[in-house]
Amino acid sequence: MTPDLMKAGAQARIEHERKVAATAGQSGGRQASYSRVATPGELDVTHGAILYLDDITVSFDGFKALNALSLSISAGEMRCIIGPNGAGKTTMMDVITGKTRPDLGKAFFGSTIDLLRMRENEIASIGIGRKFQKPTVFEHLSVFENLELALKADRGVRSSMFFRLSGEQLDRIGAMLALIHLKSSAQRVAGLLSHGQKQWLEIGMLLMQDPKLLLLDEPVAGMTDEETERTAELFLSLEGNHSLVVVEHDMKFIGELTQNGRNGKKVTVLHEGSVLAEGLLSEVQANEKVVEVYLGR
Ligand SMILES: Nc1ncnc2c1ncn2[C@@H]1O[C@H](COP(=O)(O)OP(=O)(O)OP(=O)(O)O)[C@@H](O)[C@H]1O
Ligand SMILES: [Mg+2]
Repeated sequence: MTPDLMKAGAQARIEHERKVAATAGQSGGRQASYSRVATPGELDVTHGAILYLDDITVSFDGFKALNALSLSISAGEMRCIIGPNGAGKTTMMDVITGKTRPDLGKAFFGSTIDLLRMRENEIASIGIGRKFQKPTVFEHLSVFENLELALKADRGVRSSMFFRLSGEQLDRIGAMLALIHLKSSAQRVAGLLSHGQKQWLEIGMLLMQDPKLLLLDEPVAGMTDEETERTAELFLSLEGNHSLVVVEHDMKFIGELTQNGRNGKKVTVLHEGSVLAEGLLSEVQANEKVVEVYLGR
């Protein structure tokens, strides 16, 4: 969840409580304090890459969590990233999203946007969405209201306008409910969903903001096998329209996402803050260095 969405969520809670107190029994005429404004950004992917990291180093008290990490993700690509605990996967996402500043290196979104010059909320607003491991949905709001909020909460721009969802926006929420398998739970309070459903809802909330690049940190952790399979289907359906960076330890899930050998999707293995190997899943699984540091553990 983005910092602005968190803020908007806190505001929504106040609005929600006010609405419950003041308009109990009424329907329609939805109200909100934030409205969406267009912030198209100047993303330039004419050179093919949507994300470009070069020589990124992050030190914590002298320990290099990232050590000259270089990585390039193509527009529309789904890239899976694996690596043992402590390899630097989450730190890499922290750098991309502006949460952590590297000591050295370059990070570009497209060929022109220098991520290292931007703040966390600015990075979210130019189209980089991030899913943390722990689901962070608004538990007191319904599934529908969570998606509605994500649609309207835009980058902290406050509007006092009364807001009514357009038919098109209602259709978008409906389509998202179907995509994340929560159509029959639309009116359920999010706090009552299963862990896997909360993960899907958060992914749906990110997608409502139409990110160009989506960073997903261990999205299937804690999911049942069936939920994991459905998540793989969901991600595969996003490929092409969005670029995805998926960090996971679940190798079955990585196998499903990369559909080994069929369309040549790359997997990157991180170790001690750098890229240890990159290639087809079958190639990295057969790589001796990878077996030694990761798969053989
Ligand atoms: N804020 C911090 N201060 C000190 N050390 C940190 C900090 N954040 C991360 N580290 C260290 O940096 C290394 C990389 O951590 P990171 O969380 O990026 O690994 P990871 O690959 O995401 O691991 P996991 O698979 O367990 O999630 C670890 O050794 C971790 O302890
Ligand atoms: Mg991590």
